[in-house]
Amino acid sequence: MSEPVQGERPPRVLVADDVADVVEALRLLLKGAGFSVLQASSPAGVEAAVAGEDMDVALLDMNYARDTTSGAEGLDLLSRVRAIAPDLPVVVMTAWGSVAGAVLAMKRGARDYVEKPWQNDRLVSILRVQVELRRASSQAALLGAQSMREHERALPELVAVSKAMEPVKRLIERVAASDANVLITGEHGTGKEVVARWIHAASLRAHRPFVPVNAGALADGVFESELFGHVKGAFTDAKTDRIGCFELADGATLFLDEIGTMPPGQQAKLLRVLETGEFQPVGSSRTRRANVRTLSATNVAIAEEVSRGAFREDLLYRLNTVEVHLPPLRDRPEDVVALGSHFLRRKAERYRKPITGFDGDATTALLGHSWPGNVRELEHVIERAVVLTEGTTIAIGDLHLRRPASEGPALERMTLADAETYLIRRAIERTGNATAAAEALGLSRSALYRRLSAMGIRVPE
Ligand SMILES: Nc1ncnc2c1ncn2[C@@H]1O[C@H](COP(=O)(O)OP(=O)(O)OP(=O)(O)O)[C@@H](O)[C@H]1O
Ligand SMILES: [Mg+2]
Repeated sequence: MSEPVQGERPPRVLVADDVADVVEALRLLLKGAGFSVLQASSPAGVEAAVAGEDMDVALLDMNYARDTTSGAEGLDLLSRVRAIAPDLPVVVMTAWGSVAGAVLAMKRGARDYVEKPWQNDRLVSILRVQVELRRASSQAALLGAQSMREHERALPELVAVSKAMEPVKRLIERVAASDANVLITGEHGTGKEVVARWIHAASLRAHRPFVPVNAGALADGVFESELFGHVKGAFTDAKTDRIGCFELADGATLFLDEIGTMPPGQQAKLLRVLETGEFQPVGSSRTRRANVRTLSATNVAIAEEVSRGAFREDLLYRLNTVEVHLPPLRDRPEDVVALGSHFLRRKAERYRKPITGFDGDATTALLGHSWPGNVRELEHVIERAVVLTEGTTIAIGDLHLRRPASEGPALERMTLADAETYLIRRAIERTGNATAAAEALGLSRSALYRRLSAMGIRVPE
């Protein structure tokens, strides 16, 4: 956290709390971090400052009356500040453990919150992100409509229509335009790299390269030369100079993939470079500088890695100024259908097959599957089905969905009708005949047949 926020002048922050010691501690912290600090100790003081001064971000305490911790006065103040300066990002401070208060504040338009007692690094980085977001959005507004359209055309395809992905889309849209470092988490195959490419393509660095590096799988001997480059003769195999990823990503975006499994020694070296922006190619004594925005991705639970000492907390803070978590595909049923159709169109075109869609059973089966391999698995399943299908629609048999040994389907996310279809189908698959299936389902044979014919399913007698 050593470099000041980039920009022409230091960012101005308003700090408001009715406890003088708190204001003083914050003033010292933020001044040290490169902010210029305005102070207020009462709601009236805050309103006067917001009305009279130009500032980039406000950090407001939510509790003013000494005898209450309800935060009601703070919430009113927040609304008044939003009315005076709608574009001013406000970060609120809430009492520790008062998540409900923070949620209320976010609903009233606060951009973020910190709990007291605060963590210095975290607080500074939250304020910086807000300053950067604000500057980026005014810069983006300056880009003409024409260039914005060109910008959008270049975005990679990111299919996301589900409820679960709504907050993710909002977050990446907001964060893209900033220079904030983003950590993207999620299970294997959830689309972390797609999201990283999307963020880069929507950022102000889009005209510069996106430089991916598999940071979790580099041997110690290779790590430094891959990231920082080397000069000819630095070691036996160094026949020529080599430019490292940091230099390639100067003014651009560095994508550190699989960051969660990076060995400790490499973490320390990476942290140092991220803190100083300086590095030396292997075998060279000349220091180089690079202005790099990092996007990183991991599918390991990184907080756990931190608590068991396998991942450095200070490095995590560097990388996850903003964290984007991608939900697993089984929690995004609407995306299963949308992505399935998307891949179907793409693969049908590629293999020149006149396939137009899925039949009803195939759709039910796609929704019933638990997708342990997430979007990547879905893509492979559709590709295989497109290759195998002889008709113009994909049927359930073309999908070859393997039933996972343990995990059941996402029943609680199905409609009643889909769940019924699914359970009936499973019973028939399991037992192999209608009589045993009816018994297993607690139905008479004729009741089962009525349901089957309503579903358009024929079964072996
Ligand atoms: N939302 C999406 N829209 C379109 N395609 C997607 C989407 N999400 C994932 N994909 C596709 O699914 C595949 C896997 O995505 P990606 O490589 O981004 O996953 P990942 O999370 O990085 O996986 P891993 O953890 O295994 O590295 C890619 O082919 C990608 O194009
Ligand atoms: Mg990946």
